[in-house]
Amino acid sequence: MASTRTPAKHFAPLAIGAPEPFRTLPVNLERMIHFVPPHNDKIRAKIKDLAAQVDVVLGNLEDAVPLDQKENARKGFIQMLRDNDFGATGVWTRINCLNSPWVLDDVTEIVSNVGNKLDVVMLPKVEGPWDIHYLDQLLAQLEAKHGVKKPILIHAILETAEGVNNVEAIAAASPRMHGMSLGPADLAASRGMKTTRVGGGHPDYGVLADPGKDAAAARTFYQQDLWHYTIGKMVDACQAYGLKAFYGPFGDFSDLAACEAQFRNAFLQGCLGAWTLHPSQIDIAKRVFSPDPAEVKFAKRILDAMPDGTGAVMLDGKMQDDATWKQAKVIVDLAKIVAS
Ligand code: GLV
Ligand code: MG
Repeated sequence: MASTRTPAKHFAPLAIGAPEPFRTLPVNLERMIHFVPPHNDKIRAKIKDLAAQVDVVLGNLEDAVPLDQKENARKGFIQMLRDNDFGATGVWTRINCLNSPWVLDDVTEIVSNVGNKLDVVMLPKVEGPWDIHYLDQLLAQLEAKHGVKKPILIHAILETAEGVNNVEAIAAASPRMHGMSLGPADLAASRGMKTTRVGGGHPDYGVLADPGKDAAAARTFYQQDLWHYTIGKMVDACQAYGLKAFYGPFGDFSDLAACEAQFRNAFLQGCLGAWTLHPSQIDIAKRVFSPDPAEVKFAKRILDAMPDGTGAVMLDGKMQDDATWKQAKVIVDLAKIVAS
């Protein structure tokens, strides 16, 4: 399986708006990837209720887990899966990075014990296709050995400068690829950015409006989206290979408005979901990554006005043609998945 990606119809996930070969299988709603610390007994005790509120629950074994809890986090995740059936909620884990002392045990112990209950492995700090090839082969060996019935998919975190440079090759690395998330905290460090934040914007990153004719007039400072370029690059690579793109974490739990704004930028640029690290972010992700009812209504009007998807019509003074028909279909398709 570790070869250049070919359309893997047997289990490739559907990306909204992706080219035809990938549009053959149903897609799961993944508006929020909700992170939980599996070494925490209190969280494990209420995991079933929590999982029922989210599209995906992810047991985090990597950053934010203290060194002396690494083994407990892995054991706790296995226990969590043994004790529960999460129904329609997706089950993911974020393993440790490939040059860490824990990753081999993360993969072997989890797949051998609960491989049939795991949907996706999130791989951090992916730098190139070679990282995906390694995990792909390891998963293939373990799946064969332990009789895992459904291939476990791989989700890469784009969070190093080298990874961003190689984003297309990473997307193309294996039919096991599910998608990618932007990891803004590690990426900021890897790029040498001058920030101390987990995602979101920065008050100093912006442009000053032109003074206009009156140079003495107060000038407006417009804050910009620090992640615009990387999200665009990631979305293009993902869509080209039928994968899903996600915004990652937003670390300031006290600023729900800024979290919503960051999630919304990602949604409008083509992302299908974001990570939620705190319960207060779950509803935000649900709202942002479900299409707006007014938008869906207008998109349906476009589809109705152009039954075969061609030609040009005017709706409310705005021209619609084959290209806006396709945009409308992305929104209507997503609305159907949300409603199902
Ligand atoms: C996530 O892992 C990040 O580094 O932002
Ligand atoms: Mg990271």
